Amino acid sequence: TTTVTVNPAQLGFTAVAKNKLDVVSVPTGYKVQVINRTGDPIAAGVPAYKNDGTDANFAQRIGDHGDALYWYGLAAAGTARDDNSSTRGLIVQNHENITQQYLHPAGATSVGGVRPEAEALKEMECHGVSVTEVTEGANRAWTVVQNSSLNRRITPATPMRFNGPARGSDLLKTPFSTAGTDGRGTINNCANGTTPWATNLTCEENWAGYFRRSGDNALRAAKEVTALSRYGVTSSSGSYGWSTVVPADGTNTLFRRWDARATAGGSATTDYRNEPNQFGWVVETDPYSPTSTPRKRTALGRLGHEGAWPGLFVAGRKPAWYMGDDSRREYLYKFVSATNWVAADATAADRLAIGDKYLDTGTLHVARFNADGTGIWVPLVFGQNGITAAAAAYPFADQADVLVNARLAADVVGATPMDRPEWTAVNPANGHVYLTLTNNNAAGRPLNGTDAANPRHYNDPFGPTNSAQFGNPNGHIIRLREIDDSTEATSFTWDIYLFGAGADLDAANVNVSGLTADQDFSSPDGLWFSRPTNASGLVKPLLWIQTDDGAYTDVTNCMMLAAMPGTVGDGGARTITNTGTGGATATQATRVGAAPTAATLKRFLVGPLDCEITGVDSTPDGRTLFVGIQHPGDGGTFAAPSGHWPDSQATGTAGASVRPRSAVAVITKDDGGVVAL
Ligand code: FEO
Ligand code: CA
Ligand code: CA
Ligand code: CA
Repeated sequence: TTTVTVNPAQLGFTAVAKNKLDVVSVPTGYKVQVINRTGDPIAAGVPAYKNDGTDANFAQRIGDHGDALYWYGLAAAGTARDDNSSTRGLIVQNHENITQQYLHPAGATSVGGVRPEAEALKEMECHGVSVTEVTEGANRAWTVVQNSSLNRRITPATPMRFNGPARGSDLLKTPFSTAGTDGRGTINNCANGTTPWATNLTCEENWAGYFRRSGDNALRAAKEVTALSRYGVTSSSGSYGWSTVVPADGTNTLFRRWDARATAGGSATTDYRNEPNQFGWVVETDPYSPTSTPRKRTALGRLGHEGAWPGLFVAGRKPAWYMGDDSRREYLYKFVSATNWVAADATAADRLAIGDKYLDTGTLHVARFNADGTGIWVPLVFGQNGITAAAAAYPFADQADVLVNARLAADVVGATPMDRPEWTAVNPANGHVYLTLTNNNAAGRPLNGTDAANPRHYNDPFGPTNSAQFGNPNGHIIRLREIDDSTEATSFTWDIYLFGAGADLDAANVNVSGLTADQDFSSPDGLWFSRPTNASGLVKPLLWIQTDDGAYTDVTNCMMLAAMPGTVGDGGARTITNTGTGGATATQATRVGAAPTAATLKRFLVGPLDCEITGVDSTPDGRTLFVGIQHPGDGGTFAAPSGHWPDSQATGTAGASVRPRSAVAVITKDDGGVVAL
């Protein structure tokens, strides 16, 4: 029997205590299952994962570091989409990164500075996106269908096409695509987004570090050097050294492409100088069509894209997607489509063609937060607001240049630098937009460098030696309400919904939201509003908050909280006294939402050792919750990992050499009801 509570006044579970256990801890009355572990086979005939470093063929296995995920429903049989199904569906999950040492028999190796081809290929294929068919069987047991025809891996080698204004730009021309129209693969996929026409948006975040690039400044135009530096494409090796591989077939450009150095006498179509411009995009995929070619949507700009969450879709109004750019002092962006929403497009057969309609033409904006609780969206359009060929820091050539180098355009228009913009989420009940600002340090947010939207500077001592940690190490969650509640709005109001803090920290100036021991958290990152309806009608949307914590891991593993937030402006003005080194102080005025109560904010889950909690969705009926457990146990060595989840889930422990794996935790309520209500 299903217990369905409609519009409850409070969260219906007992808070989980902070802890350092090697399990996923959930409230009494809930059960944890595990699916989609790193290496699990997702094609017919692929052997079970041995998890000893000898397994190969990750193009047919679950990738590493599972991140954002989303459920796409399937009919009871066949491959048809069914938005109402809560027992059979596809899980689309990003695979952001790798824990390199656990992928090989004896950790990563190199010979004379050259990486072995098989190791590098495995590491590459561990990145990207997975699509898996999952079903609920008897006794609420969830399983993955290994041989489903819909299962898919998208990797850094998967062919893709560029769409939108930058398609065909000189900036996208490479030896792979001399026309600048096609690309290969996606990497460092972090948060996500979705569309009402049932496609998935995967977002390329920390792609810059994968490229070897330093030392070629003299061979590049000055503006290229400026742009590469602004995006952090400056490494002298590239993450994992993939470009060092000497492939057996002598021609495999999949490795060589990670060396983005311009060559003497070379060009964009003979060397890989433009390869970094292939990444940093929002990529649309059709999960129901495993042979479809993903499309990089250049109209949404090139950033360190965390996610791309849509606002509400209203017939006759232009839809919008909200996007964080995750680095310290980066910005919040909004893409507003040029096309008014037509509800019938939600069920069109050619889903990527609908994507072309809404995501290839429109206007990218960046946010400027004012001290009085208002803000504006500044359009990033060539020829406007100083974004011209005469811009002193970076002379723009055209709109493609603006989109490829969106950070530089945002600099020109005076966007507000934020404390690391992570996920965005939109309240389905009212359209209010939430943004996690995970943290900042004293260099990025000094005592006299605060502003109303990033108002704190304090010390939260951390670690065994209690070393000083000034800045905003615990982060906060800001929220916006568009003027006229319209996705097309050019201005908004805002306040700070929650400040991360330990409950023991200064209530006046650090624990500003008054968090208790059942609520305290640090470094908010993942953010998602629950699906709003079930068979009984409207269920009050819950806001789920996930952490990727540096400042609190001396006390607890990362966690997930459930919240019932109010509305933008439900609190008021407040002045914080900040403290810097040597006892120096400075005041900062800000806007703070109504404080949470025990009924409206509680810790629902604590993850296993050393993990990050990232990625969450549920079945449409809200009775099954899927939660991404990323890089558990990633300390220690390949021979003695610091944790052993998920093997440790049942008893709290596992053999000392058992390698941990990222995976999806499936959480159900024993009474069959809606999770958390
Ligand atoms: Fe991949 Fe901003 O976290
Ligand atoms: Ca993240
Ligand atoms: Ca601390
Ligand atoms: Ca993060």
